[in-house]
Amino acid sequence: MKVMCGIVGYVSKQPSEQPRTVVIDGLKRLEYRGYDSAGIALASPDLEKPCVVKAVGKLSSLERALDAAEIPLATSAIGHTRWATHGEPTVANAHPHVSSDGKLVLVHNGIIENAAPLKAELRAAGYQFTSETDTEVVVHLLEQALSNDELFPWDGELPGLDGDEELKARRLFAAMLEVTRRLVGGYTFLAMHADVPHTVIAARRSSPLVLGRGEDCNYLGSDPLAFADYSTDAVEIGQDQVVAVTPTAIVVVDEDGIPVTPREFTVDFLRDRANKDGWPTYMEKEINEQPRAVRDTLANRLDRKGALTLDELRIPESVLRSVDKAIIVACGTAAYAGQVARYAIEHWCRIPVEVELAHEFRYRDPIVNEKTLVIAISQSGETMDTIMAIRHAREQGARVLSIVNTPGSTIARESDAVLLTHAGPEIAVASTKAFTAQIAATYLLGLYLAQVRGNKYLDEIQDYLEKLQTIPDKIRTVLDRADSVRQVADAMAEEATSVIFLGRHVAYPVAMEGALKLKEIAYIHAEGFAAGELKHGPIALIEEGQPVFIIVPTPRRPELHQKVVSAIQQVSARGAKTFVVAEDGDHSVNDFADVVFRVPAAPTLYLPLLQVIPLQVFACEVATAKGLDVDQPRNLAKSVTVE
Ligand code: G6P
Repeated sequence: MKVMCGIVGYVSKQPSEQPRTVVIDGLKRLEYRGYDSAGIALASPDLEKPCVVKAVGKLSSLERALDAAEIPLATSAIGHTRWATHGEPTVANAHPHVSSDGKLVLVHNGIIENAAPLKAELRAAGYQFTSETDTEVVVHLLEQALSNDELFPWDGELPGLDGDEELKARRLFAAMLEVTRRLVGGYTFLAMHADVPHTVIAARRSSPLVLGRGEDCNYLGSDPLAFADYSTDAVEIGQDQVVAVTPTAIVVVDEDGIPVTPREFTVDFLRDRANKDGWPTYMEKEINEQPRAVRDTLANRLDRKGALTLDELRIPESVLRSVDKAIIVACGTAAYAGQVARYAIEHWCRIPVEVELAHEFRYRDPIVNEKTLVIAISQSGETMDTIMAIRHAREQGARVLSIVNTPGSTIARESDAVLLTHAGPEIAVASTKAFTAQIAATYLLGLYLAQVRGNKYLDEIQDYLEKLQTIPDKIRTVLDRADSVRQVADAMAEEATSVIFLGRHVAYPVAMEGALKLKEIAYIHAEGFAAGELKHGPIALIEEGQPVFIIVPTPRRPELHQKVVSAIQQVSARGAKTFVVAEDGDHSVNDFADVVFRVPAAPTLYLPLLQVIPLQVFACEVATAKGLDVDQPRNLAKSVTVE
């Protein structure tokens, strides 16, 4: 079972209504994560204890409870949406949890695996528990640490606080460092104390936490979406780091309390993720969000030593080392992402990878056992065909790892491990940004497996990762050049009745994805073929004026490149109109192609992330030019919850 809670925090100088507003807005932005209860705590210098309000159900229940209570103005606030794991969704189990003296409040995302022995120890020391949660253990551990006169305040400065508050905040900071050292499991914590109303202390291990900088205020969230309405200047918090946040400072330290300089990034794109944000269609918006979708999926994945860590991945390394086969199950676009992934995972990890449509998998009596890793890929996490496939796989003893875009979804919950794509909500039925984010996620998984299984040295993995990190900017470059694709699409929209897509190696699934997009939203018959298969049949379809898209591999793979260039020659000689996707500087295609769409040079395995972009833009533009409903094509559903 995975926890998909949402966490939001806010720290400011003067008491106002802003902390409540910011935290409730943030929790609403995180609603997509799934939850069954919610809560908020507010602190201010005028309050003896933080004000805590919690409610079961949707955020509207919490808002009603807030309206019914007398809510004071505040300087700081923390909030939480909870997906029940330890104990039922009740008000008592909802966060924030409160210390015995009522002064310390804490929200938590994650699972503390050694909660039981710690709870027994705290009980023996006289602490009483009012909930069934593992989180309450941490509240009492912090309370215990703070009550120890020998607790040495953290040895550094916390700018933005007055003398007495600064000293107390340094003690809370030290207590958090001490307590986190005792914990086994995963967590994001935000803690507030009545004595330090201008401070939130936070910590993170294997669970997300991002900060946002404001003017005389700062923000915290499980996801930058939590504060994207207020701040675009985000700060990344690494594994095992602890943070003190004041209105004017963000002090980040490692597990030993040594200050570290966090990575800063801009989250411009997030603000209107679930709105059209001026784009005529969601699909167009989502196509243009791909640099961010891929970047966010790749972000925060290295530990202090530079090794790849996948926060959400909870299958023991020993199990991953024993795997002798992987089977990817998925449907539609996600299955094409899986086909791309196969090339990378086999190449990097030297284990056989099968890719199977989820609805076919179960009925062919597949050979699956405890040494099989089944990888389910799904944007929605709710596709019934894929759910049934993973249930079947687990019954056979396989471990299931899912790559999903929707935390808390059924597939995420029924898997042994989850790797999240951070593409943000995808609204258009035809999938675009989820596809590129899925490929990026499978690459992280492939590199992680190669690291764990010792197929690649750390420096090799870092080299692959560094090059992968350059892909979002290259996607942006392709998008910046999309006008030429649109012009071609506008010119073809009326007459095209059939379009052929050809690709080879990793571009073969890209060709099929390009064809699928055109079928789905432009209702044009389209087929994607492996370029090598052309001579075995599809070439019979070529006649004067037949549009053929050909995706050309990098010239740095001459053995593949030359064969695909020859495919262009063959179809062009038979009268096809050829639209070629080729790397910058690959002039060998110029003589045979009617139109060339250029993508920046990239390693072979990463090219699909660039080559698919013109195909998505093409389909979107053809559908638009035909006056069709791009976002809601006929007969299709975004999430297919029947078999
Ligand atoms: C439906 C959608 C497709 C999607 C497929 C898989 O058919 O229309 O766009 O690719 O389901 O969905 P999933 O949510 O599992 O990725």
